Amino acid sequence: MTKEYEISERYFYLPDSEFTEIMRMAGEKKDIISLGPGEPDFTTPKHIIDFAKKKLDEGYTHYSPPVGRSETREAIVKKLKKDNKIKVDPEEIIVTCGSQEALFLGILALVDPGEKVLVPDPSFLAYIPMVETITGVPVSVPLLEKNGFEFDPDKVRQLIDKRTRILLINTPGNPTGRILKKKTLEELADIAVEHDLVIFSDEAYEKFVYEKNKHISIGSLNGMKDYVITFHSFSKTYAMPGWRVGYAAGPKDIIKSMTRIHMYSALCAPTISQLAAIEALNGSQKCVEDMRREYDRRRKLIVKRIKEIPKMSCLEPEGAFYVFPNIKAMKMKSTEVVRLFLKEARVLTVPGTEFGRYGEGYIRMSYATSYEKIEEAMDRIENTIRKCKV
Ligand SMILES: Cc1ncc(COP(=O)(O)O)c(C=O)c1O
Repeated sequence: MTKEYEISERYFYLPDSEFTEIMRMAGEKKDIISLGPGEPDFTTPKHIIDFAKKKLDEGYTHYSPPVGRSETREAIVKKLKKDNKIKVDPEEIIVTCGSQEALFLGILALVDPGEKVLVPDPSFLAYIPMVETITGVPVSVPLLEKNGFEFDPDKVRQLIDKRTRILLINTPGNPTGRILKKKTLEELADIAVEHDLVIFSDEAYEKFVYEKNKHISIGSLNGMKDYVITFHSFSKTYAMPGWRVGYAAGPKDIIKSMTRIHMYSALCAPTISQLAAIEALNGSQKCVEDMRREYDRRRKLIVKRIKEIPKMSCLEPEGAFYVFPNIKAMKMKSTEVVRLFLKEARVLTVPGTEFGRYGEGYIRMSYATSYEKIEEAMDRIENTIRKCKV
């Protein structure tokens, strides 16, 4: 008889998503093209890998201070000033195991049980579970296609009450690929000041911005320094997801609280990854521009193809590497469409509902996959839709 364990109640807050089953099915099939990835298909640029190898040979295999190595934080200070127009001191930065850990630490540091976090919906699928596991209350802020998947400031105001602590934003956005405009950011900034909220600004995709669009960090707006924690990642910008390194920049007292929690959980971000991060920031940025250009080429292809396919439409992605097509005309649930594409077209996509209930009627397609594979995947999807007459 196998022993039964009493798993904590907290665990049962975590969603048991239908997509897990879809991914299992995808794993069993041959010849699947995945438009599912949430990570770059590129390998980390060679100069970063070479630098890290050298540092390993030099013996950098030890722990680092919980808050992060000082030279890493100094490189981040410079980067934030130059790229994001955010002026911070090294004590206002913590280096973490990816930005996801930083987000979790931020929530742990600020939210008591029963307190609320405003979460865009649809948005990155880890936000809601993070709030739920610590028995905080996530409150969905609908991002509607008719508003360009932008925040509606009046709606945000309506959702705030005395228990609201955090307003989470993500630009460029996963899964919508949209960028929050300066006017929206200014309005959200006013709301945060009015209601004494902390804004969590997740900018993981900041460098993948297309056409004339511009990424603006809300933390750079006048008077916002005390109200914003900015979260950045090396995973997307430098194709370093497996290195697990990211950081948060914000008010010193919050960073200090996050650091204490980090010290008793992960202890520190991997030392070698923190060193590689310095090379990433200080080395040539051509690798980032090369990846951005390639994503842009694929973005144009996938958008063109979606527009040609019956019963699918999309708002043009302005950033990140996702497109979020509307499939409402197919008159099927998002999960059913994903299952159909998997079964008939052998293409893996992600149901919009993975990103929140307002994701119903949409699917996410990632273009962090080669141009040729995207072409083939879109051919297969088009044939399936025409053949099945859905
Ligand atoms: C919006 C967003 N934020 C954060 C993350 C996590 O990134 P990291 O690898 O830095 O933890 C992801 C990963 O997909 C993401 O899409």
